[in-house]
Amino acid sequence: MPQIVVLPGDGIGPEVTRAAIEVLQKVSSDLEFSEYAFGGAGFEKYGDPFAPEVEAAVLGADAVLLGAIGGPQFEGLPKPQRPEAGLLRLRKAMGVYANLRPVKVFPGLEHLSPLRPEKAAGVDILFVRELLGGLYFGQPRAWEGDMAYNTMRYTTPEVQRISKVAFEAARGRRNRVTSVDKANVLEVSELWRKTAQDLHDSSYPDVTLNHELVDSAAMLIVSDPSRYDVILTENLFGDILSDLSAVLPGSLGLLPSASLGDGAGLYEPIHGSAPDIAGKGIANPAAAILSAAMLLRHSLGRENEAARVESAVSLALKSHPTRDLGGTAGTQEFLDAVLEHLG
Ligand code: NAD
Ligand code: IPM
Ligand code: MN
Repeated sequence: MPQIVVLPGDGIGPEVTRAAIEVLQKVSSDLEFSEYAFGGAGFEKYGDPFAPEVEAAVLGADAVLLGAIGGPQFEGLPKPQRPEAGLLRLRKAMGVYANLRPVKVFPGLEHLSPLRPEKAAGVDILFVRELLGGLYFGQPRAWEGDMAYNTMRYTTPEVQRISKVAFEAARGRRNRVTSVDKANVLEVSELWRKTAQDLHDSSYPDVTLNHELVDSAAMLIVSDPSRYDVILTENLFGDILSDLSAVLPGSLGLLPSASLGDGAGLYEPIHGSAPDIAGKGIANPAAAILSAAMLLRHSLGRENEAARVESAVSLALKSHPTRDLGGTAGTQEFLDAVLEHLG
C-alpha cells in the first residue's frame, strides 16, 4: 500500500489538504495516510518546523502532500525556527530539485480569467523551476549591522539536471522550452544560458529552445501567454513568475505543483497559508486537489485517476466557482461538487 505522508501546515493548509485527501480516498482506496505537524504547527508541537521525527516519516514515504506553511504569528521567530526555513529544509532533505508548476486555462473556463477570452483560451504553460539552488540556498548569506547579503550561485551540473527535466517535459508537450534568466547582468545567468544551450545542442536538438530576459518575460507572460510551452528558470524567478501566472486562469487557488528529485515526490499548491481567509471555510481547495492529481500521476503512475480528478475539478469550477473566482462556493461546497463529478 502506498504510504502518503500528509503535512497540513498552517492557515488554510489544513482546510485544503483535508479536501485533497477526500478526493484521493475516493479515486484510490488503497492509500495509507499519516499526518505530521510541520511548519508553524511543527514549531508549536516540537519546537522545530521540521522535526527529526517528521523528517524520518517523510524519507520513508512514497509521496508527501503538503498544505501550506507560515503566518504573521511566526514572523518574529529566529530564522531557523520559522516555517519557511522548515520548508526549505524539507525540500533539501527530499532532494526535490525540480518544481513543476503547470498553469492551464481549462477549456470552457476562459471566463474566470481577467484576460480577454481569446487571450486566455488554450493557455497551457509548464514552469520548470529549479528548487534547491540560487539565492535561497547560496552561501555566504548574512545580515551584519547596516549591511546584508545573499549569494546567487549555480553550478553547471545543477543547471544541467533541471534543464534536462525541462527538455524531457517539452518532448511530451509542444516541444518548446523558453529559458528565462537575467544574462544581461548576472554571471549566474550567463552560466545558466550557456549550460541550457549546450545541453540542447548536444542532446535535445529536436526541441526548440529560446532564451528570454526575466523582466520582459514577465510582461509577455501576461500579455501573450500562448507563446509559452515550457518555461525553465531558476529558483527565485520561478517563484515570482509562477505567482504572476496565477492571474491567467484567474486565481492563485488554482495552481498545483509537484517537486521531484531522485526519490519520493512532494506535492503542494503554489499558494501560501492565506492568513487573511484562514478558518473561514472559503479557501479554494482546487490547487491542493490538483496537486493530489499530480501525486497520482508522478509518484504512483496512476494516470487515469489523475485525469479523472482533473476533469472533475474543471467541472466543479464551472458548476461551483469559489469566491476567489467571483463565485459563492466555499471549500466544502466545492469539494462536494468535485466528489459528485467524480461519480
Ligand atoms: P498567500 O499565497 O498565502 O496569499 C496571497 C493572496 O491569495 C491572499 O489574498 C490569499 O487570501 C489568496 N489565496 C491564496 N490561496 C488561496 C486559496 N486557496 N483560495 C483563495 N484565496 C487564496 O501569500 P502571502 O499572503 O504572501 O503569504 C502568507 C504566508 O504564506 C507567508 O507566511 C508566506 O511565507 C507563506 N507561504 C507559504 C507557501 C508554502 O507553504 N508553499 C507559499 C507561499 C507563501
Ligand atoms: C512557494 C513559497 C516558498 C518559496 C516560500 C514559502 C519559502 O513562496 O512555495 O512558492 O519561495 O519557494
Ligand atoms: Mn511562492
